[in-house]
Parts: sequence; C-alpha cells; structure tokens
Amino acid sequence: MKIKINFLKILLIAILLCGFAFIAKKLFITESSYNNDAIAIMKELNIYDKVDQNKYSKTLEEMLINNSFNSKYVDVYTEINFVNKSNFLNVVNTLLEKEYSASEINMILANLSDNNIDNLLELEYLSLEDFYLIKNLNVLKINEYNQYKKENSVTTEEAVTQVNIGLNNKYYTNIIEVENPDDLLVLVNKYRALPADYIPEDLVSLSNGSQFQLRRVAAEAYEKLIDYASDNGIEVLPFSGYRSYNTQKVIYNNHVNNNGRDRADTYSARPGHSEHQLGLAVDIRSKDYELKRLTPDDAKWINENCSQFGFIVRYTKEDEFITGYMEETWHLRYVGIEVAKKVMDLGITYDEYYDLYIEKH
Ligand code: DAL
Ligand code: ZN
Repeated sequence: MKIKINFLKILLIAILLCGFAFIAKKLFITESSYNNDAIAIMKELNIYDKVDQNKYSKTLEEMLINNSFNSKYVDVYTEINFVNKSNFLNVVNTLLEKEYSASEINMILANLSDNNIDNLLELEYLSLEDFYLIKNLNVLKINEYNQYKKENSVTTEEAVTQVNIGLNNKYYTNIIEVENPDDLLVLVNKYRALPADYIPEDLVSLSNGSQFQLRRVAAEAYEKLIDYASDNGIEVLPFSGYRSYNTQKVIYNNHVNNNGRDRADTYSARPGHSEHQLGLAVDIRSKDYELKRLTPDDAKWINENCSQFGFIVRYTKEDEFITGYMEETWHLRYVGIEVAKKVMDLGITYDEYYDLYIEKH
C-alpha cells in the first residue's frame, strides 16, 4: 500500500514538472518562424530548404520582405543581429559589399554612432579592431590614429583623443573658427579661434579690481570664490580678465618682439586664440606676493577649491604637451560647477574633456 502511494506521488510530481516545463517553454522560448510573406519569397527564390527554419533571423526576414535580399548573403544575414534603425538594410548590404564580416557588422551597429556609420558607407574597408568601443572615435581619422600610434607611445584611447584635438598637426595649423563663442562651454585653443570681432555682451567689473571684467556669470562665481578664499585666509587679486582681440594682439606681439615667436607661443596666445577674449578667464595673484603670481600654497588651495565655484585651472604642468602652454597656476577658466568638477576630478585638460564629453562624434 505504502509503495503504491509513493509511486502515485512520484507520478504526480513528474506530471507537474512536465506541465511547468511546457508552460515555461511557451512563455520564454517563443518558437521561431518566418512570417508567411518571407516564406513565400523563400519558396519563390528556391532557398526555403537552404534556410534553417528553426533558427529565425529577423535580419533575413526583413531583407526578404523589403526587397533588399541578395542571395550572395543568404547565410551571413542570419548571423547579423537586427537593429531597429531606419537604414539598417542598406547599411548591412553596403558593409557586406565592402567585405565586412558578420561579426564586424554586429560590432559596428552595436557601438558606432550614426554619423560614423554613415561615413563608413562612403569609405573603403577599414579594420576597426581596437576602435569599436572608443566613444569619441571618428572613422574618418582611422589612418591618422594609426599613424599617430606608430609615432608616439600612446594607447589607442589617447591617440584618438589627441588626434581629435589636432595634436598630430603642428599648433596653429588646420585652424577652425568656433561657431558658438557665446556658449559657456566653448573650447578655444591653438586649433580653434574666435572671430576677431567677438565681444561678449554681458561683461561686468570685478569687485577687487574694477579695471578687470568678466562675463556676468563668471564674475558672480569669481566673487564667491574670492569670498570663500578670504574666509580661509587667502587673499587674491585679479591681474587680467576680459581682453579684446586687439589687446591680445598687442600683448602677443610685444612678447614676440621681446622673446621671439617660439618662446612667446609657449605662454601667450595668438590673437583670437585666448580664453581671455571669451570673458570667461581670469588671472589671479596672491595679494602681497612680490612675484605678482600665486604663491605655491595659494596655487594649491585654488587648485583644490576652484571647481566648486565653476572654475578650472586650465594650463597644468603635466599637460603642456596638449595645451601647448607652460604651466599657469593663476589662469582660471569658468565652465560652470558641474563641468569644472568633472574636469578637475578626471585630471584632464579641457581640450580632452571637450572632445570626450561635449563634441558630437
Ligand atoms: N596666457 C594665456 C595662454 C593667454 O594668453 O590666453
Ligand atoms: Zn590668463
């Protein structure tokens, strides 16, 4: 009797398990099958038997029903993950024509920006290995990245960012004029110039140096910074703020006349290339310091505290090879609190930050 009950129990459990398995399969593994239109086309094209009907591929189905199917690629289509994107079928066919493999196409579609994908369609085949996961990649520059990597001991990530900044070409070559000089996040450097006639419209004087001006938002941040510094026993004064294109021209030419162009270029911006023309850069010095710069202690304090007021130390010692300027502990650039904190925490130049986090690629 006991044995019979145990047997019945086991049977019941077995039946229940089978039932669960059946329901789970229905719920989670939807049987793959092509829609009727795709099947009809497969039959018409005599490929129905060639296609594994148990291994559904949305890419293949879409190719068939949208009249984009090329019989050369019948097998490879099934290896390509479908991506919901308007020109998906054309992208896949074009990349296949250029002899990209299915796995390369999957990586391209999963990682590259629409802009990069559009550009790839216009180029000959490129080996993108090493580059797929780089967020600031520009496929138009792959050859430049590879060349730069050969000539410098840098990682692929560094090569991409440095080439994007322009560092594979000499300073003051391939200069572009910035389109958005009023944007608080605008980047100005030795490759990016301001229009000569650009003058910010909201300049205001600084309280502890009324002959110096900044744009209103930067001036307000500056006042908060110096108040906080003063509360901490640090007294600073401005020694430069907004400078017009012409003022910068006079200053730069003066340095060239005194020290020669090469030397001047290491510490003075050519006209149009100075952040001072933005009205977002201020130079500060320690009040009673005979060198008319920041004392090392004050420089350290400013470096550690300026970002909470929206400023970054723009020209650092370790980044001279990127900015092209010698260290300037005293030159603060306003970019707003959020960005300033990120730049200072990451310990990178604004040139790099701009390419990594602001520029669209
Ligand atoms: N001294 C900085 C680089 C300027 O001239 O803007
Ligand atoms: Zn400065």
